[in-house]
Amino acid sequence: MEKNLEALKQKALACTACQLCQGRHNVVFGVGQPDAEVMFIGEGPGENEDLQGEPFVGRGGQMLDRLLAVVDLDRNRNIYIANIVKCRPPHNRDPLPQEQECCIGYLRSQVAIIRPKILVCLGRIAACRIISPDFRVTKQHGQWFVRSGVHMMGTYHPASLLRNPRQKPECFEDFLGLRDKIIEICTHTYPQQQQR
Ligand code: URA
Ligand code: SF4
Repeated sequence: MEKNLEALKQKALACTACQLCQGRHNVVFGVGQPDAEVMFIGEGPGENEDLQGEPFVGRGGQMLDRLLAVVDLDRNRNIYIANIVKCRPPHNRDPLPQEQECCIGYLRSQVAIIRPKILVCLGRIAACRIISPDFRVTKQHGQWFVRSGVHMMGTYHPASLLRNPRQKPECFEDFLGLRDKIIEICTHTYPQQQQR
């Protein structure tokens, strides 16, 4: 396994391991800080992400950035963001199980290199893959799970909030819970923690 993020990225950029390589403009590897204690995981690139090569840059991404800002998180400062699959599924369909299986090794390596303390799954696909196969977002969002010392939580996908604005207060609560968890277990995510 690649020991450094840049080498892993170069490998992903050339990947043709599954059929999703065929329609892509860019491999969307991930963005953020290599020393992040908090990592966000989406399902896969959409149109804008495919064109720009960065996760969550469309309307859903703007929604995510606003939620992040509320709890003092920022992809340019103190988190890392990646997806289950790195290439865009056609017409934004869900990534197939076999495509997820093909690609998940990159995410596992990203987690192994970055070693985040907290994983936040954005939406059903990521939560089912990372937390448990029968995860129900409407019932279990905001709940914390711990595996191998890593704290994990699933919440609504930002695109889902755009379609169902009534989910926003619940998602907002989940982000406040995230802030509490960061204050509890992280050491350098917030500026005041760096002074400790
Ligand atoms: N939706 C996702 O799950 N990931 C992205 O990067 C963009 C939209
Ligand atoms: Fe490779 Fe993942 Fe892209 Fe499939 S989706 S081609 S496994 S990088």
